[in-house]
Amino acid sequence: MFSNRTNWQLAQNRLTRALEHARAQKLKLVDLTISNPTRAGLHYDERAILAALADPRSLDYDPQAKGLLAAREAVAGYYRAEHGLELDAENIILTASTSEGYSYVFRLLCNAGDELLVPKPSYPLFEFLADLQDVRLVPYPLIYDHGWQMDFHSLEKAVTARTRGVVVVHPNNPTGSYVSAGEREQLNGFCRERGLAVVVDEVFLDYGLDDEARFPGLAKAARPFDKLRAGSGASHSADTVSFAENGEVLTFTLSGLSKIAALPQMKVAWVVASGPGDEVVAAMARLEVIADTYLSMNAPVQWAVPVLLEQRKNIQRQLMARVRANLAELDLQLAGQTACERLEVQGGWYAVLRVPVTRSDEELAIELVEEKRVLVHPGHFYDFPGDGYLVVSLIGDEGEFREGIERTLTRFLNG
Ligand SMILES: Cc1ncc(COP(=O)(O)O)c(C=O)c1O
Repeated sequence: MFSNRTNWQLAQNRLTRALEHARAQKLKLVDLTISNPTRAGLHYDERAILAALADPRSLDYDPQAKGLLAAREAVAGYYRAEHGLELDAENIILTASTSEGYSYVFRLLCNAGDELLVPKPSYPLFEFLADLQDVRLVPYPLIYDHGWQMDFHSLEKAVTARTRGVVVVHPNNPTGSYVSAGEREQLNGFCRERGLAVVVDEVFLDYGLDDEARFPGLAKAARPFDKLRAGSGASHSADTVSFAENGEVLTFTLSGLSKIAALPQMKVAWVVASGPGDEVVAAMARLEVIADTYLSMNAPVQWAVPVLLEQRKNIQRQLMARVRANLAELDLQLAGQTACERLEVQGGWYAVLRVPVTRSDEELAIELVEEKRVLVHPGHFYDFPGDGYLVVSLIGDEGEFREGIERTLTRFLNG
């Protein structure tokens, strides 16, 4: 009765079962996987957020496929203020989520069975998004050697006649690695030669650990980058520059309020098209038809976009303070032992721990729930190349984080 594309393995995984069991027994767990910022004890400007949703202009229905111009201009304003870019609002299309943005772009680029190259390890939702659009994902590895790098050799080998584009996550979840300036150049050349599009997920772009200029006074991160860009309040290393103006090849840059302003419940995201002019015009015309078919953006939230985007200033500062404090705490605790280490992180909300391999990551995560009462994500959730990786969120409460890391590390005290 049902389509093959929905033939998912729907049974709960063992970790979820162990977690439910622990919760049913009313055991108090420390959660090191928290990714919902609305439940992370942050201070939102509740009054401003709620007032913005009550704009009387929302009583009018003005169906604009790309989204209301005022909202798209606010998005362009964000890129101007934070990233020093001058974007044309006509090349921005609003979507209800980055996931919806992905599905529009996948629909635009791919016939059923066409392929997209995706990084590995990375964001686990890709598989579902691709299944639903009948797209085949072909992974290309990111390789760790004192920092994560794209493996262009593997990328070359992964291309077939059906490849339509390369997906990058900038910075990647959960490795926290940006596409470096050198990789960007190589990626552009690679895609130009083969007629491929670039799809860039920038939801964590603003959470660069090195962004001292944007978050003055917060403790500095471990690894400084060269500062090459300055002006309009934006100060970024060459590595952390947005792709939203990438001009060499057809590029779709995805982002949204869920991470930028830590407001995932508002369901506002966008796709920016850039690249050779004629290709951008053709892509936008088609994307507009896709968006017009659904018209998924509601009026109140679109009128609120300027105010909601403004919330980033308050919320990013709080989140960066958390991320830096938790990372410093992690490093402090790691310095007291030799079994585990942290991989290099440049930005985002997560850290990756390299731990001794005594069993599968899933079994280890289950053991941590059952015996240490702490929840972490096993690396295999993100397609790490083997066992020995745990992923922890850095946005949680600092006291909880300290306790959770203590509990995790005691597991490895005697091998
Ligand atoms: C890399 C990445 N892209 C996109 C998203 C989701 O964004 P949205 O809520 O806009 O669909 C997430 C959420 O964790 C993410 O990690």
